[in-house]
Amino acid sequence: MNGKFISIEGIEGAGKSTQLSFIRDFLEQQGITVRVTREPGGTELGEQIRQLLLTPRDTGMSHDAELLLMFAARAEHIEQVIKPALARGEWVLCDRFVDATFAYQGGGRGIERARIEAISDWTLKGLQTDITFLFDLPVEQGQARVIKRQQEKDRFEQEKAAFFQLIRDCYLERAASEPSRIKVIDSSRDIAAIQDQLKAILAEMLAA
Ligand code: TMP
Repeated sequence: MNGKFISIEGIEGAGKSTQLSFIRDFLEQQGITVRVTREPGGTELGEQIRQLLLTPRDTGMSHDAELLLMFAARAEHIEQVIKPALARGEWVLCDRFVDATFAYQGGGRGIERARIEAISDWTLKGLQTDITFLFDLPVEQGQARVIKRQQEKDRFEQEKAAFFQLIRDCYLERAASEPSRIKVIDSSRDIAAIQDQLKAILAEMLAA
């Protein structure tokens, strides 16, 4: 039996990491084998591509190069990690997947949606998440949380608030057009309310 494919998305500071651990623990308590992974990354080659994408560089990076590197990492990840795990009946819990490309490279960088769709169809070959949790909160709140982390900012985190506003808008638009796959989780609430909502959605998936 095939496993299920879950991704988590959101702008920087939306609380993805905390909730990813919660989802993994909850599913494991139900006896599910969970394969936690991330994009860009998840394979040896993918993690090297991640370094290329996230390291700030004086010479910049063209939007098309950024887009294609995301998909190069993803192609490797799908073949080496995601598909084999699903075929073994494991549940794949992925920190970001293709919705991030539509939001960041589409919404944020302004690459035409039809071009991303063409590369996406070619790379995913029909694969899509069963459920995507979109952790949503106002950009200013997300940015305030990132500042508190006090790590050096990566190439995306260095962008201005207007960039993240475009990304948030694009994520919400996608969620509105695919409400059964993309579940919006209001991350400005307290953690107990967020986790109650997550548990309810996961319980529905388990029962299906
Ligand atoms: P992370 O900080 O959530 O690990 O993600 C790394 C960065 O990569 C984050 O700023 C979002 C960005 N990203 C894209 O721009 N496009 C994509 O397709 C993915 C997967 C991530």
